[in-house]
Amino acid sequence: MLRINEHYLKLQASYLFSDIAKRVASFQQANPDKDVIKLGIGDVTRALPEACVAAFHRAVDEMAADASFRGYGPEQGYPFLREAIAIHDFQARDAEISADEIFVSDGAKCDTGNIQELFSVEAKIAIPDPVYPVYLDTNVMAGRTGDFADGRYQGIVYLDSVKENTYVPALPEQPVDLIYLCFPNNPTGSTATREQLQQWVDYARENKALILFDAAYEAFIRDESLPHSIYEIPGAREVAIEFRSFSKNAGFTGTRCAYTVVPKECMAYDASGTPQPIHALWNRRHCTKFNGVSYPVQRAAEAVYSADGQQQVQELVGYYLNNADRIASEIGKLGYSYAGAANSPYIWIWGDRDSWEFFDMLLNEAGVVCTPGAGFGKCGQGYIRLSAFNSSDNVERAMVRIREALS
Ligand code: MLT
Repeated sequence: MLRINEHYLKLQASYLFSDIAKRVASFQQANPDKDVIKLGIGDVTRALPEACVAAFHRAVDEMAADASFRGYGPEQGYPFLREAIAIHDFQARDAEISADEIFVSDGAKCDTGNIQELFSVEAKIAIPDPVYPVYLDTNVMAGRTGDFADGRYQGIVYLDSVKENTYVPALPEQPVDLIYLCFPNNPTGSTATREQLQQWVDYARENKALILFDAAYEAFIRDESLPHSIYEIPGAREVAIEFRSFSKNAGFTGTRCAYTVVPKECMAYDASGTPQPIHALWNRRHCTKFNGVSYPVQRAAEAVYSADGQQQVQELVGYYLNNADRIASEIGKLGYSYAGAANSPYIWIWGDRDSWEFFDMLLNEAGVVCTPGAGFGKCGQGYIRLSAFNSSDNVERAMVRIREALS
C-alpha cells in the first residue's frame, strides 16, 4: 500500500492564489455581465520590453537553422546571461558577486520553494508573518513543522511584521538556522534599510544561520538610500542566498526566467560540524533536477541589460509605480491607513475588518479583486493587499469603484 507524505495533510486548503482564482471564477460564473478588475495576484499586464522581444525573435531564428541550433544548455544558465547579471545587478553596486555564483532558473517561486531541501529537517526556521506563502508551505511539505493550530504552524519561529515595527521584523529571541526575508516586501511593500539588513547579517554570522533573501521586487526601489541587494551589506557573502526574478521588472511572469545567487563562502554544517559549501549542494541539485531555461528566454533576459532594455524596463517599472501612487493616494483620501507603494508595486491596507469579508465586499460591490491579508498569515488579518500590476485605465476605474463602494 502506497503511503502519502502526511505532511501535505497539514497544509491549509489550497494555495492562496489558486483559492482566490476559484472564488473569482465562481463569482464571474454567477455574474457573467459584471466586469471584474484584478488587483489581486501580482501578475504583470504590459507587453515585454521591445529589446527583449527582438532578442527573443533572433534567438528563435537561431534555433531554426541547424548551424546555429542549440540543444541542452548548461543547467546553471548560459555564460552570456550569468555574466551580464553579475556585472549589472551586483558589481555595478559594489556587491562582489561573480558569474559562477549565479544559477539561472525558471522562477523565484520555484527556487525559494526548492532551496529548503538542502537543509536538515531539524533546521529551525524563522518566517515573517505576513509572508509569501511559498516559504512556509514548502517547509510544511518537508516536515519541518507540527500541526496548524490557532492560525500558525507549530515549530516555526514567526517574525511579526506589524505596523509598530514598520513591517520590518525584529531579530528572533531564540536561535534559528534559516531566516526568510523579502525586501521590498511581499505583501506589505515595506523596505529595509542598510542598518536593518546589517543587523540580520550580523545575527546570521553570530548564529551560523543562513538568510534566504528574496529580492524579486528590487527594481521598484526609488529611494536611493535603500540597498537593492543583500550583498551590498558587509559580511553577507558568508550568510545569504539571494533570489531575483525577471518577472516583475521585465514582465517575464509568463516567459519564466529568474536566478539565485549562492556565494561560495556560504556554508551549512554536516553532523560532525564540518562546514559544507552550499554552492556545491545547490549546483548538485540544480544539475540533477533542472535542465536549464530555454535559450531564447535567456537571450531575452540578457537584453534587459542592453541600453535599450534598461531604459524600457525603467519605463515599465515607472508605469506600475505610477499606478501604485494612484492607488495609495485614493486609499489615503478615503481615510484608510496603508503601507507600501513608495518602493513597491503593493499597497498594504488596514481594512479594520476581517480580510476575507473585505475581499468579498470589494468583489461584490466594486467588482475589484484584492488579496486578503489573512492569506499571508495571522498578522495579515484585517488587511488587504492591492497590486499595481494592471493598466492605468483599469487602476483608475477600480479606484472610482472602490471609492463608491467605501464611501
Ligand atoms: C503575488 O501576488 O504575491 C505574486 O505574484 C506571487 C508570485 O510572484 O508568485
